[in-house]
Amino acid sequence: MMKSIIKLKHHNEIILPQKYIADDVRSSDNLVEYFINEFTKPDDIVFDPFSGFGTTLVMVEKLGRIGYGLEYLPDRTEYIKSLIKNPDNIICGSALEMDNYDLPQFDFSFTSPPYMTKNNHAEYPFAAYQITGDGYEQYLHDMKTVYRQLSKHLKSGVYAVVKVCNIIKEGVLTTLAWDVAKSISEVMTFEREIIIEWEGNKKTATTVMVMTIITVLFSERELKHEQFNLLHTR
Ligand SMILES: C[S@@+](CC[C@H](N)C(=O)[O-])C[C@H]1O[C@@H](n2cnc3c(N)ncnc32)[C@H](O)[C@@H]1O
Repeated sequence: MMKSIIKLKHHNEIILPQKYIADDVRSSDNLVEYFINEFTKPDDIVFDPFSGFGTTLVMVEKLGRIGYGLEYLPDRTEYIKSLIKNPDNIICGSALEMDNYDLPQFDFSFTSPPYMTKNNHAEYPFAAYQITGDGYEQYLHDMKTVYRQLSKHLKSGVYAVVKVCNIIKEGVLTTLAWDVAKSISEVMTFEREIIIEWEGNKKTATTVMVMTIITVLFSERELKHEQFNLLHTR
């Protein structure tokens, strides 16, 4: 039975090159390991649409699974290539354009997407904050676009885990975890949330959401109908 709250000590085995240290947004190794063990078996194919510095792909390979990923920034993509056994499996590109890439069917997805707050956040997260965006609603809409495409690449009945936080910045609350869950739940079925309590440092609590695709064969309209029935009967 999966736990509702997990306590972990944040740790990354790999020491980042000096030029990346200020941008260290990596997921903890043991967090990725926990979900890989929970949701996959050896030789399964795991996808991270926002690969960052490659924690998911490195842990996936370490645990005897096959990793695939997308990363927007070319230098981060090259860095990941230097860390993994199958460098062709990390593609430099945008998760918003997933349909354009030749990707296999996945057994599981784990990611930590780029975050956004409602206040004082002009930069567009899905271009790695390099251009000005159209605000929080656009961000949530784009998150749905990513998961609509991702759901087509997931085998029937498998899971996707999204690591995301609610954020208080300058006294303004952004319910990012709940808003992202609501947005993605329009294209995949929201299963549950799991709270990660970080031990021994100042990291705030992180929410991990588990989504499952009920069937990859339904059209979007039918999927919504299915979701409505599911929600209704619970
Ligand atoms: C929070 S970080 C992921 C960190 C990763 N989990 C790790 O442990 O290293 C999010 C990543 O998404 C990338 N990104 C931003 N927009 C993207 C897009 N449209 N498609 C793919 N990756 C994107 C950013 O460059 C950043 O590296």
